[in-house]
Amino acid sequence: MKILKTIEEIKAFAGEMSKAGKKIGLVPTMGALHEGHLTLMREARKECEIVIASVFVNPTQFGPNEDYDAYPRKFEEDCQKLEQEGIDAVFHPEPEIMYPQGYLTYVNVDGDITNKLCGARRPGHFRGVATVVTKLFNLSRATDAYFGQKDAQQVVVVRRFVEDLNIPVRIHMVPIVREESGLARSSRNMYLSSEEREAALVLSRSLKKAETAFAGGEKDTSALKKLVREELAGEKLAEIDYVELYSFPALQELAKVDQPALLAIAVKIGKTRLIDNVILGSER
Ligand code: PAF
Repeated sequence: MKILKTIEEIKAFAGEMSKAGKKIGLVPTMGALHEGHLTLMREARKECEIVIASVFVNPTQFGPNEDYDAYPRKFEEDCQKLEQEGIDAVFHPEPEIMYPQGYLTYVNVDGDITNKLCGARRPGHFRGVATVVTKLFNLSRATDAYFGQKDAQQVVVVRRFVEDLNIPVRIHMVPIVREESGLARSSRNMYLSSEEREAALVLSRSLKKAETAFAGGEKDTSALKKLVREELAGEKLAEIDYVELYSFPALQELAKVDQPALLAIAVKIGKTRLIDNVILGSER
């Protein structure tokens, strides 16, 4: 596996592969790789001739009081995992390589898809994501890129700017990977103590409750959100950030779930903010 650290290195590698007409899959990550990421790698490996992973903790998507400094960095372990998945190259730049002195350009997705959910709680977050992902698409010459459903709003945002900016890449959304307990895999699970990890099971449990009610015929948005809130309220270590339900992928308000809809939650367990979601009304 090639380790690419500079703009010149990734441009040379991707340029050569692109010139040879290869289908190039990109899996953008911030590292601390877990089964969720590895599932994305496997999807890409199945479908693409060349797979490039990026491992970059992107400073522009973190707010001033967020966990940029504390975010786990485990590049050596990540490389071992990527090698095992047969990844062709990993791009691992330093922040100054991606944002050198004089850097001034950002990609901003306006409107209804960024003014709610994590976009409302984390000002500037999606601007940072859209900027770095655009740069990664340009550098990797990706024909295909793989993102997890756990960050469903991120997928909506990426699809929007890819279409709006006419970027020639296909976006694949891969279902959430969960532990047997139901806990959605996340690099931030590493912050949890064992007591908090137990408490964190309330996220998936609350969504399951709503999913079951929906399958049983409950289509009322407020009733479904109430079920989730009630379950979350039963866990004393859990502090609700949001419980929301919107049409998917348009992210519009819905009184009744009469089309595919995203039921999404953000919950603080101790100091750790976790997100999870389920898509109602579609096979996924
Ligand atoms: O989902 C993530 O880990 C990040 O937001 C991404 C897509 C790698 C951009 O930094």
